[in-house]
Amino acid sequence: MKLPLFLGILLLMAVITAPFCTREHIQDLSGVCFESKVLPVFQSNCTQSGCHNSQDREAGYDFTTYESIVKHGIQPGDYRKSDVYRVMVTVAGRMPPAPYNRLSDAQLTNVAQWINDGALNTTCVDTMTCNNTDTKYSTAVKPILDTYCNGCHGTTSGSGNISYATFSGVKATVSDGTLLKSIEHTGGISPMPQNGNKLSDCNISIIKGWIDAGAPNN
Ligand code: HEC
Repeated sequence: MKLPLFLGILLLMAVITAPFCTREHIQDLSGVCFESKVLPVFQSNCTQSGCHNSQDREAGYDFTTYESIVKHGIQPGDYRKSDVYRVMVTVAGRMPPAPYNRLSDAQLTNVAQWINDGALNTTCVDTMTCNNTDTKYSTAVKPILDTYCNGCHGTTSGSGNISYATFSGVKATVSDGTLLKSIEHTGGISPMPQNGNKLSDCNISIIKGWIDAGAPNN
């Protein structure tokens, strides 16, 4: 009878502890991914010339890499105490400053959640699975441009006189070939996104698929 009793106790312990293990695991999985959801927010919206890139380091901040982002103004575990988050939601003196667009609610939520999760350098599964069957402008291409490009090019007076505020502005860089060359880092033009990581092969293939289909406004 001793062995079954021992097994019974083991089973009981497993039942008691399992929910906690599971919950922690799910929490990890549900955390906001730094690499795909937070790094592009900083790189695309904060690193313009004269701002927080590795050369200019305006006010001492460089938002081009994980290591430099977490150096100051981020309080892991508490977004409300993080100066970097506070200036993003402030009304007077907000960052990024006008004429650049204010961060979207989704971007702010991701930054806040990432800080509350401990501001970790997380990379994630969703960057590894490529769904490039959808190459529509509105549902596939525009979200990529919004995430990686429009911190700089999202206003009517976009950086380098390239404005992605309207479809026709995007289309102009398809017609002259610069959009594709800039993201593929070919053709001797400035590699894009400036100060950011090269787009994933998946995102490049989505934009390419849309261009190959004639770059429709669909
Ligand atoms: C941090 C700011 C910033 C981000 C983010 C950014 N750009 Fe740019 N982009 C610029 C600046 C500044 C220029 C003009 C100066 C230059 O050519 O280097 C430019 C120029 C360009 C040009 C013209 C290049 C040429 O030589 O004719 C294209 C096309 C372009 N960007 C597309 C993009 C795309 C697509 C993305 C996103 C994948 C992107 N940019 C992200 C700042 C940015």
